[in-house]
Amino acid sequence: MSNISEVTSQLTFGTWRFQKNWKPLHIVDAEGCWFTDSAGKKYLDFCAQLMCCLLGHKNQAVIKAITDQAQKLSYIAPAFATTERAQLSELLLQVLPAGLDKFFYTTSGTEANEAAFKIARMVTGKSRIISRYRSYHGSTMGAIAATGDFRRWFMEPASKIPNVTFAPEVDCYRCPLHHSYPQCAVACVEYIDHILQNENDVAAVIVEPVVGTNGILVPPKEYMPRLRQICDDHKVLLIADEVMSGWGRTGKWFAVDHWDVKPDILTTAKGITSAYVPLGLCATTTEIAKHFDDHYFAHGHTYEAHPLTIAAAIGAIGEYKRLNLIERAEEMGQYMGERLRALKEKHNCVGDVRGIGLFWTVDLTKDPATKAPFNTFKDKAANRPLIVDQIAAEMMKNGVFIQAWVNHFIIAPPLIITKEEIDTGVDALDAALSMADDAG
Ligand SMILES: Cc1ncc(COP(=O)(O)O)c(C=O)c1O
Repeated sequence: MSNISEVTSQLTFGTWRFQKNWKPLHIVDAEGCWFTDSAGKKYLDFCAQLMCCLLGHKNQAVIKAITDQAQKLSYIAPAFATTERAQLSELLLQVLPAGLDKFFYTTSGTEANEAAFKIARMVTGKSRIISRYRSYHGSTMGAIAATGDFRRWFMEPASKIPNVTFAPEVDCYRCPLHHSYPQCAVACVEYIDHILQNENDVAAVIVEPVVGTNGILVPPKEYMPRLRQICDDHKVLLIADEVMSGWGRTGKWFAVDHWDVKPDILTTAKGITSAYVPLGLCATTTEIAKHFDDHYFAHGHTYEAHPLTIAAAIGAIGEYKRLNLIERAEEMGQYMGERLRALKEKHNCVGDVRGIGLFWTVDLTKDPATKAPFNTFKDKAANRPLIVDQIAAEMMKNGVFIQAWVNHFIIAPPLIITKEEIDTGVDALDAALSMADDAG
């Protein structure tokens, strides 16, 4: 094969992008927090690829779990019991918020949310899903319909499920309601109460407890407990989408643990296997599960609870525990936060730095007084050049891979990252941000 990059761009789709000018970098190796291209250049993985390789690359325990399983039993239909399926389900009881004790295994976060919506609709007999504008819940017709960000626009008006209503996001930097915390009394969550008072067909509210791609939005401490109460008052299910925020990313096993909130359904994927093989999870309470004792559970996949993925998850959970990565994320996150916050003092293009655990963003502004962003969803959807992409490209030249999204960066490295590696990543960001200081 001649040029791998050319063949790839000619014969396969590059996701979430205009296809013209897509020149994927040819990657040949990855280890720890680094990956290597075909020219031998190494890059620091400052966002764990798609915020998913939480154990870093080439974790030997996970690799061994997968290869051992492949030798033993590489596929068996979901209707059979296996030692590993039972073992993972028991392990999940130890790490998930108490009360989530019945599991449906999928192959992605998207499918975990699809399962959650179908379950919520079957159990409640109602149809409407409440989501928020700053959110991403997946790419298929149900999950994209519940996605607040612009990726939904391309599927409108016809190709998505009906009956989704969007609430304002919780964003204390650019509050959609133009309030300030704490004087606002968290009006954004009260807005959801207002929606529920005025709608009669709501099955569930879905939130990312800490919003990921759309801005690492960490809610004030009152938000999640109040949302739980609102959902209870209106007898509506609460779905926590922890596809990105789970598995120690925020310094707890799951982000809802920060506020001791128990969702009715928790969905996750990514870190469950550290992305070594594709696995998602839709976890529900006994109460929800019981509904299906006498009602048909109308859902399933060929690859549901696939043995290789289940083995990988057992391996990954073992590694999170052995390496104390949940506590470590909290500890290293303090250091990362200090280093990133210092960028705000230095660069007038930095509007806000926020985060929790090893989950951070640097959010840009062309005018600190108005907080105006350089770019918006509409710029991204129209393929206009984005300043964050230029900065990310400059960082890549300097050997650091970061995810840029519309007007901010997502900094979410593997949880095994060292202080020295954090310094390398932050220094590269520091140097590249100068490009935006004069652009406002
Ligand atoms: C919060 C959230 N939900 C759902 C998804 C979809 O997961 P997947 O890409 O595994 O389908 C993502 C993916 O980034 C996500 O961040």
